[in-house]
Amino acid sequence: MADPHTQGAPGADGAEARDGQAAPLWGGRFRATPSADLTRFGASLPVDRRLWEEDIAGSKAHARMLGAQGILSEADVAAIVSGLDAVADEIREGRLAFDETVDEDIHMAVERRLTELVGSAGGRLHTARSRNDQVALDSRLAAKRLASGLMAACERLEAALLARAEAERETILPGYTHLQPAQPVRLAHHLLAYFWMLSRDWARLFAARRAADASPLGSAALAGTTYPLDRGATASELGFSSVIPNSLDAVSDRDFALDLIYASAMAMLHLSRLCEELVLWSSAEFGFVTMDDAHSTGSSIMPQKKNPDFAELVRGKTGRVYGDLMALLTTMKGLPLAYDKDLQEDKEPLFDAADTARQCLEVVAGMVETLAFNRARMREAAGEGLMAATDMADYLVSKGLPFREAHGAVGRLVARCVAEGKGLEDLALDEMRAESPLFDEDVYGWIELEAVVDRRATEGGTGAAPLAVQLALAEDELARQRAEAPAA
Ligand code: ARG
Repeated sequence: MADPHTQGAPGADGAEARDGQAAPLWGGRFRATPSADLTRFGASLPVDRRLWEEDIAGSKAHARMLGAQGILSEADVAAIVSGLDAVADEIREGRLAFDETVDEDIHMAVERRLTELVGSAGGRLHTARSRNDQVALDSRLAAKRLASGLMAACERLEAALLARAEAERETILPGYTHLQPAQPVRLAHHLLAYFWMLSRDWARLFAARRAADASPLGSAALAGTTYPLDRGATASELGFSSVIPNSLDAVSDRDFALDLIYASAMAMLHLSRLCEELVLWSSAEFGFVTMDDAHSTGSSIMPQKKNPDFAELVRGKTGRVYGDLMALLTTMKGLPLAYDKDLQEDKEPLFDAADTARQCLEVVAGMVETLAFNRARMREAAGEGLMAATDMADYLVSKGLPFREAHGAVGRLVARCVAEGKGLEDLALDEMRAESPLFDEDVYGWIELEAVVDRRATEGGTGAAPLAVQLALAEDELARQRAEAPAA
């Protein structure tokens, strides 16, 4: 038997509806409709249904503007606006059943329900509008909201890092290069390194929000419209700073989505590095931190285990956010102007990247707020790695020895310490003098951890003086962000 979806004379209203299904909005010129499977394939409703608030806000603004411009009657505008409010109530209360075999996307679902509720006025809403400018509008409103949420989460983590840093000015731990103990640093200094990474993420999120902050509404399908629209009115009602100046660009541009995914990916990169250190530091071998029980998991077989699962999962989720970025970059390349259905693939990576990064920022903030630093263990490790060797050589330099000779003398002392399993401070003065007669009693004070650390007094260094400056700069940065943060 022939496929019922491709057979049959068109009904009076155009394409014949499938059993129990409404004819699509474009029924007029069609003689057959896609199968249920194809309809499902073409639908974005399962992904874009979350845009319902943006869609309804955009439609109300559009209808009011059409009324103000004399394109719709005041009675129609009133019916549309109250009908849209009723649709919003139904969705909010879970009373509207979405079905992607009936409605391709949230725009069609809202318009269909509106028309069911208010009749012919509902059919006038789409005057001078296309789903092409509508979807660009909804996505931009969503991107702005997502960016604001991400900025708030980012700021929470920055504040947590800064607060923990303030309290750890005196804590000294090994600093590493090549993951080998290199020079001792203050824990506050180490934590602030992440603070600055996150502050750059905040700035990227702020810029991504600004990229979304221009209205495409009124561009219609691609070329603008014959109706006398007031694009500035809808833009300002919806909280946009400006109107996109080119209708083709307005319906084709997804840079704002890519900017937000990229900003999310960079934040994930930083979270992943921080989480890697937390995983390492919470190992028995390092023992620098103890994760709060409420931020750890156990093992179903090994009773002694306490696993940094959530830190690992953040590290793991970084990969999918990079995937979101690559997916949309690849979707966009080579698309001719203006709207192409490929663009429908923008929302999944956008939502996934922003949701994932937001969640991870919150999770890591909770972790940083609650973890315990094992100060004694950090200090012990800082003393273990012969990390005062550079300073010991500098000591000899301060007594007039050329640095190369000093490096050689201290290198031989280091070899002796390694062979005997002891620290530089454990060497007797005689042992030191065997390598250089310039060593004196004051060398012991010179190589104490605090002295070693505070000698790094250059701007941005780990010494107490530049650290105090850095903490103040971080406070200023956070205050500036709080002042600049847009209201939701
Ligand atoms: N569902 C579409 C999307 O998400 C909406 C725009 C469709 N426009 C069109 N002409 N088919 O991109």
